Amino acid sequence: MYFQTANIILGFLSIFATAYNHFSVDESPILRITSKNYDRHLISQALQKAYEDVFALTPNNHALLHLSSNSKINTERECIEKTVISYYLRDLKFITKEFEASECRVNTNNKYKSILQPTSNIHHLFHSSSDNIQIQLEASLMDEIQKSKTLGDIEFNQFDSLDYSLECLIGFQELAQVKMEETDIQTTLEKVIQIPAACGFQKIQSSFEGIHYETVKIDLPVNGTFY
Ligand SMILES: *[C@@H]1O[C@H](CO)[C@@H](O)[C@H](O)[C@H]1NC(C)=O
Repeated sequence: MYFQTANIILGFLSIFATAYNHFSVDESPILRITSKNYDRHLISQALQKAYEDVFALTPNNHALLHLSSNSKINTERECIEKTVISYYLRDLKFITKEFEASECRVNTNNKYKSILQPTSNIHHLFHSSSDNIQIQLEASLMDEIQKSKTLGDIEFNQFDSLDYSLECLIGFQELAQVKMEETDIQTTLEKVIQIPAACGFQKIQSSFEGIHYETVKIDLPVNGTFY
């Protein structure tokens, strides 16, 4: 797995020349989020999380991001409108995952074997995200990977050939379950939040430089097999 990863990274280096440096302005992000193209609520959520990270607040000891100022409304607007969230691709590798693809059953009949099959269309359940940003990141990443010359032959979501007719025979008192092994490309992204002074982070910690980094992992499904 290690070597496979290394090969893929080498292939990517030509495209993502700055892959291992911290973000630089001219590198193009996988996705960029501002209040112009996204719901302000998403941005205030991201700021709240950054606030808790930067000031090491635990869930028990968390304080809301307060924008203190005489002109609170204008400051808050500036804070949200000048915040830029960018996602950069930093690493990718193949991984395998295991999912439970049927009920778990014990055969209590000593005369007959019981037949267990994968639950219909179960693979749809493993990847039904309703998170808008997650969905867009996945789409942009798949697009970027397919455009790359070295990885261009990777097809995602190849689940048409899953064998739903698989029959698993269970003897008396045996316990059985159908599982699915899935191959994914796991991507590691750096999420860079540029936080303007209007958000007031510097009022709490004057050394705060206005940029917060987070690591995000996104798994892109390639194919799967029942067993
Ligand atoms: C799934 O994709 C991987 C990577 O492309 C490949 O090595 C593997 O043989 C595929 N497995 C199946 C079941 O198609």
